[in-house]
Amino acid sequence: MYASRTCKPVAKLKITRDSITNMADPLRGALDASLISVLEAFVHHGAPEQAFAAYSDACGLQPSDLQGFAAKLNYKAEEGAALILTGNRFAVAPEAYADVAYGLANAADIRHWEPPAEEMERLYNETRIADFTELSGRTLGLTAALGKHFELRADYEERFDREEFGAAVDRLERLGLLTSPRGEIDFGEFRRLSPFCPYYGFSRGTPIDRYYLSRFVAQVRDQVVGDILEIGGRQESQEEYGLEHGKSFAVMELSAQPGVDFAGDAHDSSACEAESRDSILLFNVLEHCERPSQVLQNVLRWLRPGGKVFCLTPNAQRVHRDPKDYWRIYPDAFEAMLRDYSNVQVTTYGNLLSCHASLSGVSAEELSPEELDFHDSRYPVITCAVAEKPRADAARQAREATDR
Ligand SMILES: C[S@@+](CC[C@H](N)C(=O)[O-])C[C@H]1O[C@@H](n2cnc3c(N)ncnc32)[C@H](O)[C@@H]1O
Repeated sequence: MYASRTCKPVAKLKITRDSITNMADPLRGALDASLISVLEAFVHHGAPEQAFAAYSDACGLQPSDLQGFAAKLNYKAEEGAALILTGNRFAVAPEAYADVAYGLANAADIRHWEPPAEEMERLYNETRIADFTELSGRTLGLTAALGKHFELRADYEERFDREEFGAAVDRLERLGLLTSPRGEIDFGEFRRLSPFCPYYGFSRGTPIDRYYLSRFVAQVRDQVVGDILEIGGRQESQEEYGLEHGKSFAVMELSAQPGVDFAGDAHDSSACEAESRDSILLFNVLEHCERPSQVLQNVLRWLRPGGKVFCLTPNAQRVHRDPKDYWRIYPDAFEAMLRDYSNVQVTTYGNLLSCHASLSGVSAEELSPEELDFHDSRYPVITCAVAEKPRADAARQAREATDR
């Protein structure tokens, strides 16, 4: 029904009147508040069966039961607080001290160490961190009492039966709030020092990054128009990417070779004629350029006003020298390098699992569409950007605005 192995909480949450959120993953939004009582049970009982038994016997606590901690819990309800739940600690802290509380809780959990008692008391008093581990262990009703204390509007008192508890455990694992204790991770075949395929996954099917390349191309295909230049590519790309809206398609490469229209280094501003292209593609190229910022300035020069650059760079990819491999380029870097462009749109594709898979040479066919398409911006397999060369009047207005 649900994990029979032991689990431990790994949670730094923020509770306010409006919601409970995971401070490690705020983009995912509010958590179902009733899940946190399940998490509370795992602070004290690692085995799911025991955790469920204790959860079922939980006694209700009232905010008044927290009176002894009132001085420390004197945080404003609208500001909320941080809830720290680990393998053997349940602490509450002002948000500013969330990391201190988390560090102390983990020291106790992992290293079975904490500062001497007086030092700990001084630290807790200064930071107003409240350690509720003991009270929580006795009652397992702390989450509900804190929900009342912070006037949480979401439903935190819903009680789960056995089956619902199991589903809650699964959800907590998926959210990364319940995890395997140290030494109990099942690495399976991923405990290896060489990839499943040394050729990016080609020997098994479609490399993961090529799967995302197809997704990106499908998104932008209709915008790739007019006179198209692919830098670091080949003539076959036009058909492979289904670029049907172009008037012409040319390829520039470092050296002359079949499928290449002219040789040139993208760092050289004279490699292509100024204002001669409507669309320029840079797929898996910028990481091989010593000065990617300069390349993007040259591209700006080569584009006609209103023309667009389409960039794709790998993030979770092994080092591949072609002829060098300098960088991994993330969204913030694109935003900075494309500052002279307009309508800049940066997107990432991938998640933790697909990053592991990509680095290990697993093919896209070996993951499910749901696994591939789950988006987690913290773990990009590739980062893509589309940006436009400002039209003359827009560029002038932007300059005037800066001068003013
Ligand atoms: C990894 S390959 C990518 C090929 C293709 N675009 C793709 O996505 O499969 C990188 C290509 O960029 C070319 N390249 C690297 N630095 C370059 C530069 N400064 N100017 C032009 N091309 C360059 C390399 O010669 C190589 O063919």
